[in-house]
Amino acid sequence: MKRTVQDLVGLKGKVVLLRVDFNVPLDTVGRILDLNRINKAIPTIKYLTEQKAKVVIISSLGRPIGYEVRSSLWQISLILMKKLGSKVYFSNKVYGDEVKVRIKTMEPGDVLLLENVRFYPEEKACDMKFARKISELGDIFVNDAFGTAHRKHASTYGIARLMPNAIGLLMEKEYNSISAAMESPKHPFVAIIGGTKVPDKIKILKRFVDVADTIIIGGAMAYTFLLAKGVPVGQSITYLDSLQDAREILDYASSCGKKIILPIDHVALRKDDKKGKKFVTDILGEDMVGMDIGPKSAKLFATAIKSAKQIIWNGPLGKYEDPRFKDGTFKVAKAVAASGAYSIVGGGDSVSAVKECKVADKISFLSTGGGATLKLIEDGKLPCLEVIQEKIR
Ligand code: 3PG
Repeated sequence: MKRTVQDLVGLKGKVVLLRVDFNVPLDTVGRILDLNRINKAIPTIKYLTEQKAKVVIISSLGRPIGYEVRSSLWQISLILMKKLGSKVYFSNKVYGDEVKVRIKTMEPGDVLLLENVRFYPEEKACDMKFARKISELGDIFVNDAFGTAHRKHASTYGIARLMPNAIGLLMEKEYNSISAAMESPKHPFVAIIGGTKVPDKIKILKRFVDVADTIIIGGAMAYTFLLAKGVPVGQSITYLDSLQDAREILDYASSCGKKIILPIDHVALRKDDKKGKKFVTDILGEDMVGMDIGPKSAKLFATAIKSAKQIIWNGPLGKYEDPRFKDGTFKVAKAVAASGAYSIVGGGDSVSAVKECKVADKISFLSTGGGATLKLIEDGKLPCLEVIQEKIR
């Protein structure tokens, strides 16, 4: 068991460096589209301000190469001010004397948000000199950035190796919920996995075959699996390098008596149709590109989902970023919500589908992680948690 923020004593007046994941979705001009990750970070920030610590928040946003206005965290400092009702300062630097002076002048219970740590290339490189410079700002490091806990970066992994540390309340909740669902699942356990990249998901699929009863595969991933079964997929996205892996997973599942359910019909486009008219088909002809699951597949998936006692869902069932192909993902979101099963939904598009369908309150746990959720399911651990101190019993 990792030490949590609640295990820390004597926080009054101490400078706590709190890593959060404010990697929020932005529109083209940099306006924030969804506050979920900010809202989920509030309990730990509040806890620390109530303990009268000086809270210095570190976060990344996007994947900037150097400084860019749209990825500045400045606008988030204004949001925090409203949500916390305490003083929130902003620093456009993440280390150095100027920041130290600013922290010195803060009152216990005040908050300082540092600029996007990914504006510095040293962050991704996990440069330990850079980590040390940031660590010099504070007394204790708290990691509440579940969304980036799979990344060994300077402010997530490096700093933790240099300072007394603990995890935050969100990290604890995410870790416990996902680990419990994988280690002692309720059965029938239905795993739903979508998205595009088969190579990234092979290991997780194997893990699901071990632990779940039924695995539903949708999204572009499904075409590689259909091809592996000899089903025609036309011009749909496939990963030929992963074909053998897909065959092995299908064989492995059938040898373990586990069910893998694939789409049986599709919403498709014709490759050369310039007007882009979508249509439904059971069979993908030579010139067709599958874009979403069709109505029969949605029904088939919903039937399996209905019988579940536990569901883990990650990844959209169609090309979700195109409004024409959201339907399959929406139907699955509604089916998961209606199932009454214990449900964990992770990944940006799946979570946004649940919200768009207004069924978020029917999902047991909405994870803030995408890649981190998958990594935790796959390995049962996360790199950034490995460097956090154990609880003293
Ligand atoms: C996420 O959105 O999954 C995390 O914030 C990590 O983002 P990254 O993939 O850019 O590291």
